[in-house]
Amino acid sequence: MNEALLSLKDVSQVYTSNGRTNEALKHIDLTIYHGECLGIVGQSGSGKSTLGKMISLIDQPSWGEIYYKGNKIEFRDRYIYPIRKDIQYIFQEPIGAFSPRKKIKKFLLEPYINFKLCPKKEALAQIEYCLKQVGLDQSCLNKYPHQLSGGQLQRIVIARTLSLSPKLIVCDEMTSALDVIVQDEILTLMKKLQVENQLTLVFISHDLSLVQRFCDRTMVLLEGEQVVCLDSQNFGTSTHPYIQLLKDSIL
Ligand SMILES: Nc1ncnc2c1ncn2[C@@H]1O[C@H](COP(=O)(O)OP(=O)(O)OP(=O)(O)O)[C@@H](O)[C@H]1O
Ligand SMILES: [Mg+2]
Repeated sequence: MNEALLSLKDVSQVYTSNGRTNEALKHIDLTIYHGECLGIVGQSGSGKSTLGKMISLIDQPSWGEIYYKGNKIEFRDRYIYPIRKDIQYIFQEPIGAFSPRKKIKKFLLEPYINFKLCPKKEALAQIEYCLKQVGLDQSCLNKYPHQLSGGQLQRIVIARTLSLSPKLIVCDEMTSALDVIVQDEILTLMKKLQVENQLTLVFISHDLSLVQRFCDRTMVLLEGEQVVCLDSQNFGTSTHPYIQLLKDSIL
C-alpha cells in the first residue's frame, strides 16, 4: 500500500436546522492513500457528499480530526489556504460551476488569479495545455457556457481543476448528469489523467457497478455510518447483507 495522503479519525458531522439535529456522518475512520482511486457509494442521503466535503476540507467536521500528509488540519485560513489548492472538488452539475455571463477563458483564468499562480501569458499557455489534456482546444475560450454541451463543460471543469496541479480530486457524482456514452468518456479521461498527473481520486456515486469498475477500493455508507471499505474486487465475495442489497438493487 502507498503512503497515506489524507486520514479522517473518528469524524462526525451534525447539522442543525429548525431546532432539529441530523447526524449526517457518524464516527468515520478513513485513510486515503497516494495514487489510489477510492469509491464512496450509498443511498441518497447516506452522507456521501457530506463526507466528500470533509475530505476536501470545504466543511469542518463537528467532531474528529483530519490529517493531510501526516499533519493535523487546523481549520484556520492561514493554515488551510495552501492545502486548498491540493484538494479539489468536482460537483455533479457542471453548468452550476459557471456564470452564464462569463466566457470560458475568464472561468479558466480565475484559479490563476485567485491563487496568484503566474502571469496571464504563462497562465494562457498552461490553460492551453490543460485543455489539450481533456481533449479540447482553444476554440472554446471565447464561448459562453450555454454554447457548449454538458460533456464539454465537465471537461472544462476538469481542465480548470488540473490547472491547480491538485494532489487529490473528489468527484461527486460528476457524470450523473451526462448520458451513458459521455459518462464513459469522462471516466476514461479521469483514469488517463490520474496516471498522467499522479492524482489520487475519490469517486462518489450511486452506482455500485460503476464504482467497482473504476475504483481500487470502495467504501459503503448507510445513514451516515461506514458499513464497509473493501478492495473493489472483493465486493463479489462479501456476505454483508447491505452489500447484497446494493448488488441486487439499483440505488
Ligand atoms: N448543509 C446542510 N445542512 C443541513 N443538513 C444537511 C446539509 N447537507 C446535508 N444535509 C443532510 O445530511 C444528510 C446527508 O446528506 P448528503 O448530501 O451528504 O447525502 P448524499 O449521500 O450525498 O445524498 P445524494 O446521493 O442525494 O447526493 C441528509 O439528511 C441531508 O439532508
Ligand atoms: Mg450527494
